[in-house]
Amino acid sequence: FTVPTPVNEPVCDYAPGSAERDSLLNRLGELAKTQHVLDMHIGGKDRRGGGEEIKVVQPHKHAHVLGVAHAATSEQAADAVAAAKKAAPAWSRMPFEDRAAIFLKAAELLAGPWRDTINGATILGQSKTAMQAEIDAACELIDFLRFNVHFAEQIYSKQAISSKGLWNRTDHRPLDGFVYAVTPFNFTAIAGNLPTSPALMGNTVVWKPASTQLLSAHFTMQVLRAAGLPDGVINMVHGPGPEISDVVMSDKDLSGVHFTGSTAVFQHLWKTVGTNIANYRSYPRLVGETGGKDFIIAHESANIDELAVAIVRGSFEYQGQKCSAVSRSYVPRSLWEAGVRDKVVQMARDVSYGDPTDFSNFGGAVIDKRAFDKHTALFDRVSGDDSCEVLAGGTADDSVGYFVDPTVIECSDPTHELFHTEYFGPIVGVHVFEDNAFDSVVNQAADIAPYALTGALFATDREVIGRTSEALRFAAGNYYINDKPTGAVVGQQPFGGSRGSGTNDKAGSWQNLVRWVSPRSIKENF
Ligand code: SER
Repeated sequence: FTVPTPVNEPVCDYAPGSAERDSLLNRLGELAKTQHVLDMHIGGKDRRGGGEEIKVVQPHKHAHVLGVAHAATSEQAADAVAAAKKAAPAWSRMPFEDRAAIFLKAAELLAGPWRDTINGATILGQSKTAMQAEIDAACELIDFLRFNVHFAEQIYSKQAISSKGLWNRTDHRPLDGFVYAVTPFNFTAIAGNLPTSPALMGNTVVWKPASTQLLSAHFTMQVLRAAGLPDGVINMVHGPGPEISDVVMSDKDLSGVHFTGSTAVFQHLWKTVGTNIANYRSYPRLVGETGGKDFIIAHESANIDELAVAIVRGSFEYQGQKCSAVSRSYVPRSLWEAGVRDKVVQMARDVSYGDPTDFSNFGGAVIDKRAFDKHTALFDRVSGDDSCEVLAGGTADDSVGYFVDPTVIECSDPTHELFHTEYFGPIVGVHVFEDNAFDSVVNQAADIAPYALTGALFATDREVIGRTSEALRFAAGNYYINDKPTGAVVGQQPFGGSRGSGTNDKAGSWQNLVRWVSPRSIKENF
């Protein structure tokens, strides 16, 4: 292999007084006072959308507009498809090493001169703290780019067996068409990974970022251009998903969809593919990471302090808006009463959500008014519900930013919506059970939610760990033992879930990259 085995990008801690902190603060100041022109990017050119205006604000200070974008018209969405198709022949014939070099260079730019910009945009536009931005927009995106190149090279090196008088080989072609990437607001890294991984494998892409992520998407596109990405390889269009998807997905050359977002939207896209199936030249590859109802289950043998910290960090980092965030916990009564309850409630109350440019805050605001309203509606529902007791939070204030307080709700009914409905916010439901009911609680937890993304078991008893891990076999695609179920690291814990959580084509791994190639088996007789 020619590509060195990558190591994970070291996380900078932006310690008080450090040069890194000063530099990031300085860049944050510049980014906040600029009115950003958030154009689309089609066929190598910036294009102003002809559709409705999209105001990009700071979620924690929603009166502060960072920039304005405009949605694509149907014609512009069609232009993006045409640009992707036009660029496809040259891009697919470019040697892998040359394609790889572009993405490796993008990783170097993000690790160096662009680090403050991509982190700053993520802090301001998505309300992440410096630490949450650093592990996402800098480290995870850099890791995706470097590890994908490493895994891609392994895929290209796979050969069939040859025998005397003949030569068998495999041509790992790109898909025969273009890929549509639809990306979420919550990770700048995911938004960067979804268009670049099919592109690395020789495909061209139409990329639609979430309207609430456009500032960091804008800079991601600039980094890729600065790294040498040719015109038309990744075409970024803005706007409401349904309109753009209708145009893009009705094209006969759609050959793949790379999606992260809600279960409902992915199911809609899947149905759209079904409706159009007879019109496509190929069966499009559908790769999606969707909803979750991620859990922590504790056994009486668990460590109390580790469990309490995991519930709080897992539920409340990035305001509970990670796909992997804890949103239901099951705790045995002995541990709950021996300290887990008091520790979780105290830590939840101590969590400070505020302006993330103040580095002393633990978190920021939820992404937008829609999310805010969804969470406050839940608070209204549980306030009149006798099976629920709000132990922390249950309060919110959107006068300056969309702030929802870290909320812990104890609920005696394990079939309550708290244990199967996804909220995507800083809300955790806790079910306290009698210690001897552990196995039945595990079985119920394994099946009550329609999702299977992440989950964690806390226990020190080895026999319990063994049998519970078996009982939870299909309940999570990323399963943790004695750790919170967030923070998967590229190259270490490939990420993805099944059931209603997605197609489980692990992001940042060879399992994902093989979805973007169409192998041709070649047999040559001598
Ligand atoms: N990969 C992220 C995590 O593990 C979620 O998308 O937290």
